[in-house]
Amino acid sequence: MEHRIKPAARLRGEITCPGDKSISHRAVLFGALAEGGTRVSNFLFAEDCLGTVECLRRLGVHIEADPAAKALTINGRGLHGLREPNDILNAGNSATTMRSMLGLLAGQPFFSAITGDASLRGRPMRRVVEPLRSMGATILGRQGGDRAPLAINGGGLVGIDYELPVASAQIRLALLLAGLFAEGRTSIRGGRLARDHSERLLRCMGADLAFGEDQVSIAPSPLHPVEISIPGDLSSAAFLMAAAAILPGSQVVVRGVGLNPTRAGFLSVLNSMGAMIIESDLTELSNEPRGNLSVSGTELLGMEVEASRIPAMIDEAPLIAVVGTQARGVTRVSGAEELRVKETDRITAICSQLRLMGAAIEEEEGGFAVTGPSRLTGREVDSFGDHRIAMALAVAALCASGETVISSWECVDISFPGFGEVLESLTHS
Ligand code: S3P
Repeated sequence: MEHRIKPAARLRGEITCPGDKSISHRAVLFGALAEGGTRVSNFLFAEDCLGTVECLRRLGVHIEADPAAKALTINGRGLHGLREPNDILNAGNSATTMRSMLGLLAGQPFFSAITGDASLRGRPMRRVVEPLRSMGATILGRQGGDRAPLAINGGGLVGIDYELPVASAQIRLALLLAGLFAEGRTSIRGGRLARDHSERLLRCMGADLAFGEDQVSIAPSPLHPVEISIPGDLSSAAFLMAAAAILPGSQVVVRGVGLNPTRAGFLSVLNSMGAMIIESDLTELSNEPRGNLSVSGTELLGMEVEASRIPAMIDEAPLIAVVGTQARGVTRVSGAEELRVKETDRITAICSQLRLMGAAIEEEEGGFAVTGPSRLTGREVDSFGDHRIAMALAVAALCASGETVISSWECVDISFPGFGEVLESLTHS
C-alpha cells in the first residue's frame, strides 16, 4: 500500500504515543512465567508485540487481550508450566520476539521450532544461538544455526559467564530468560549502554539478579505477578519530535513517554543540534521513568554522533539523517554498523532514498555523512517494508517540495499503528 504525503509548514499539537515496544515484549514474556495473573496497561497492540503474545499462547499461556483499553491480562504459568507447541512458532518481522523466544525455548524440556518473515529469516541469530548452545541447548537452523527457521531441543541448561560481542539488549534478554532455567548463575558482561528494560522489569518481579560493573547475573527464581504500566514509546515519539524540530515554528507535546536514559540518545542529539526540548511531569512507574516532552522547531546545526552514543539511539539513527538534511553543516553518524542487520540495511535504505529526494548524503561503512540544509523534493520512495524507514521518509516528506509517495506503508503497523493519521492531525500547511 502506497502512502502520499504533502509538505507541511509546521506541526502543532499534543499527543500520547503508543506503548513502548521493547517493554511490551518483556511484560508479556515475564508475565507468562510469573506465578499468577499479571495485568499490563498501555500495552502496544502492534504486529511485533502481538507476535510474542501469539507465540506464548502456543506454549499454553492464557492471555486475555482488550485492544480498546490497551490492556492485557496474562495468566502466568510459573517457570515450569509451558507446554510443547504443536506447530512451528512464527515471530513475523520481530527479532525481539525470535531472539527472546530462543532464550525461553532453550530452557524448556521439549522440542520447538520457530520461523519468521523473509526479512527476519535473513537476520543473524548466531549471536544468541552460540551462547545458548554453550549453556547446553541443541539448536539447529540454516547456515549452521545463524538463520531461521530454527529448531530447539531445550532443557538441562547450565549457567555461563558470557561477554557480549555487540551491545545488544536482545541478546541480554535471551540469556536472562535462559538463565531463569539454568543450573547456577548466568552472568552477562558488556553492553552496558544498551537498553536495560529487562533488568528493570525482572527486578520489579522479584528475580534473583545481581549487578556488577558492566555485568548482570541471574539465577533461577520465581517471578511475582505485578501490575505493569508501560510508558509511551520514545522511539515512536522520535518521528514526531524530529518533524517538529525540522519545521521552524512547530511545537509538539508528547505525553507520558518513556525517558529511560538507555533510550534517550536521540533527545540529547536533537538538543545538541539546537532543538528546544522541555521535559515536564516526570514520574516513575513499573521502574521506568516517564514524562511529557515539548519540542519546538528552530534553526539546527549539524554535529558528529559518535559510536558511544549509538546504543541509546540505535532505532533513531536513520532519523538523524533526515534531521541532518535540514541542519546547517555536516551531520555524521558513525559506529552504527548494527543498522545494517536490522529489518533492512537501514544505512543503505535511508541514504539511497534521501539522495533520491535531493539530499547531499554519503553512505559510510558504519553510518553516513549528510550536508545541509538542502531543499528536498517529493519523489516515489521505497520503505523496503521497514517500519522505521517508512516513518523517517514521512518526516522527510514534510519538508520536501511536492508530494512524496512511500511504498509498503502498511509496515508502520509493526510498531506505530495509526502513525499516518497522528502525523496528519498535527500537520498545518
Ligand atoms: C530491542 C533492542 C534493539 C532495538 C530493537 C528492540 C529490544 O536491538 O534495535 O528495535 O527490545 O531489546 P538490539 O538489541 O539488537 O540492538
